[in-house]
Amino acid sequence: MEPSFWHQKWDNQQIGFHLPEVNPYLIKFWSQLKLPVNSAVFVPLCGKTLDLCYLAEQGHDVIGCELNQTAVEHFFSDNSLAASVESVGELQHYSCEQISLYQGDIYSLPASVTQSIGGFYDRAALIAWPEEMRADYAKKLAELIPAGVSGLLVTLDYPQTALQGPPFAVSPDWIEQHLTEYFDVELLSCDDVLEDNARFKNKNVPWLNEATYKLTRKS
Ligand SMILES: C[S@@+](CC[C@H](N)C(=O)[O-])C[C@H]1O[C@@H](n2cnc3c(N)ncnc32)[C@H](O)[C@@H]1O
Repeated sequence: MEPSFWHQKWDNQQIGFHLPEVNPYLIKFWSQLKLPVNSAVFVPLCGKTLDLCYLAEQGHDVIGCELNQTAVEHFFSDNSLAASVESVGELQHYSCEQISLYQGDIYSLPASVTQSIGGFYDRAALIAWPEEMRADYAKKLAELIPAGVSGLLVTLDYPQTALQGPPFAVSPDWIEQHLTEYFDVELLSCDDVLEDNARFKNKNVPWLNEATYKLTRKS
């Protein structure tokens, strides 16, 4: 989606994607990546997710990228963290001891910021893009992830005609067609989560799958 769409969502606090707890798939699968505790982790399109705190609690330095200033400022204030702020090119860099958030467009984030990461985590980032913008995001993500680095990708899939995104449906076929160019892809889980999602149930969406993949950047 265009930046104005997301700024409007944050301005109106229409942030149904924001979970009040740490994502259960992150808790379940993160240890399977077997990352060194002190490795840095990149979280694209991070919003103000509590997953950033979870990753920091696992011992990681966490690098996020988020377009919206309110989201970034609320992340630090909600979690009683004091951040220092500096300009880095077109982005604002907010940082505290272990968490470093680059506020601005991910397309303006230089690869130098993520060159030393040991892992990454994409929840509700790939699925935030409509199909016509998604392949470009996948390419940018691949540019930001060094060879050999693994991460988790959490997606949703449903019949796209039944509901307007975001979140947009990302099928296993799309992943096969567009991500295997850059990543080795391993499906870790796929659950039918329709019963837990009132918005989808109320719109009579017939099925809703939430999948977790392990991605490893190819050389
Ligand atoms: C669906 S939300 C997911 C947020 C977070 N990953 C979570 O799980 O709560 C997508 C987020 O991406 C941000 N975003 C959208 N386009 C962006 C861009 N071009 N660069 C950086 N962030 C962007 C939006 O502001 C929004 O907070």
